[in-house]
Amino acid sequence: DPLSRLIIISNRVSAPTDSKSGAQGGLAVALSAALREYKGLWFGWSGEVTEKFSGHINFQRNHGVTTATVDLEEQDLEEYYNGYANRTLWPLFHYRIDLAEYERDFAGGYQRVNDRFADTVRPLIEADDIVWIQDYHMFPLGSALRKRGCRNRIGFFLHIPWPPRRLLAVLPEAAELVGHLFDYNVIGFHTDEWLESFCDYAVDELGAAREGDTLTLGDRTLEVMANPIGIDTTEFVEASRSPTARLAYRRMRDSAVGRDLIVGVDRLDYSKGLEERFLGYERFLQEHPEERKEVFLLQIAPPSRGGVESYQKIRTTLEGLSGRINGAYADVDWVPIRYVNQGYPRDQLAGIYRAARIGLVTPLRDGMNLVAKEYVAAQDPEDPGVLILSRFAGAAAQLGEGAVLVNPYSAEEISDAIVVALKMPRDERIARWRAMMANVEAQDVRWWRKRFTDVLIGSGEAAETLP
Ligand code: G6P
Repeated sequence: DPLSRLIIISNRVSAPTDSKSGAQGGLAVALSAALREYKGLWFGWSGEVTEKFSGHINFQRNHGVTTATVDLEEQDLEEYYNGYANRTLWPLFHYRIDLAEYERDFAGGYQRVNDRFADTVRPLIEADDIVWIQDYHMFPLGSALRKRGCRNRIGFFLHIPWPPRRLLAVLPEAAELVGHLFDYNVIGFHTDEWLESFCDYAVDELGAAREGDTLTLGDRTLEVMANPIGIDTTEFVEASRSPTARLAYRRMRDSAVGRDLIVGVDRLDYSKGLEERFLGYERFLQEHPEERKEVFLLQIAPPSRGGVESYQKIRTTLEGLSGRINGAYADVDWVPIRYVNQGYPRDQLAGIYRAARIGLVTPLRDGMNLVAKEYVAAQDPEDPGVLILSRFAGAAAQLGEGAVLVNPYSAEEISDAIVVALKMPRDERIARWRAMMANVEAQDVRWWRKRFTDVLIGSGEAAETLP
């Protein structure tokens, strides 16, 4: 391997020891798997808040992965994480301009924290390291590193959707932000759709020139690529056969007393379409009284970003909605929705997925969605369940052939899809599952990582000509 070292930078850093925690986003799991194969390190926020930012780096080594983390101060947390990242960019990039908030203090804090990250990580970067920055918390970091003389190859990967050009125009700093991105050598997206939206903005609003996958703005060139992330499939299949998974499987089956389990697992986030999912399920209960006590929905939803108001709101909404649906339909020996606000370790989740006749993954908009892939990987090949998947998840581009695709805004489509899935004969379930599993196996997290780093390394000439 020609790489000397790989430096990964992301807001959230998770040591491989806790990669089994269910409360964590799929991205963190995927990155620790990728880094385990490399020398190098993973830099980011510690998740801790300190009185005054000091730039002190805490190094740790776990299972072959070195992590380097820094604490942030309260104001950083408010303006950068709760502010610009999660009140401004996250909703806007998930097409929710109604929820996005625009405050100059947020934008300022976001830039300040990115500058702090750049100051702190710069001395750790050696001459021929390649640097790979992850996600929307860090858009300007590459540019900040260039300003500090970093001439390494720097790649960026976006794990959330890129919004259509006319939506992005709503962001006061849009042009500046996209301008910064030209300091990267390569930018990756999960789907062609996000890639095309990005190019539209760069070409139409900034006047960049496009030739295939190369964009030029002034004297800077940028390569773009669509590169869908996968899971660590081998590990996940193994997890689904572990003693913990078997135990979880038994526990689910026993408590189901012969009923079909429908499962959803999502961070408690408005982008996941949980409210719409509950309404779709309610519709199904309404229209199919004969099916009522034959199924139940287990919704696992660990709370997320509780410092942001829209997250507090969605939590309250879902509590009300699940309570209302259960109140209206439950019987002495049956509850239609088991709504659980905690995360579960990976092995246990794998067992729960395997016990579920239906995986219900209906985000309103999602960069990729790895739960869909985990659900597929956990199935029994002889008797697999059915994946119901939103057409607006990045994963639909890869699993669309085998999944039952739905428009997550339509309660009717969700209700119909549940009926189709419950009635689906075993032969068809197997055929659909095989189509999906072929993709989950071929395009796993290693494939994703190698495909990106190969392009990043190949972009070398451009890096050498930097001033
Ligand atoms: C998504 C984002 C990740 C993020 C994760 C968990 O998957 O793309 O960047 O880490 O959600 O969110 P949190 O705010 O807890 O890091």
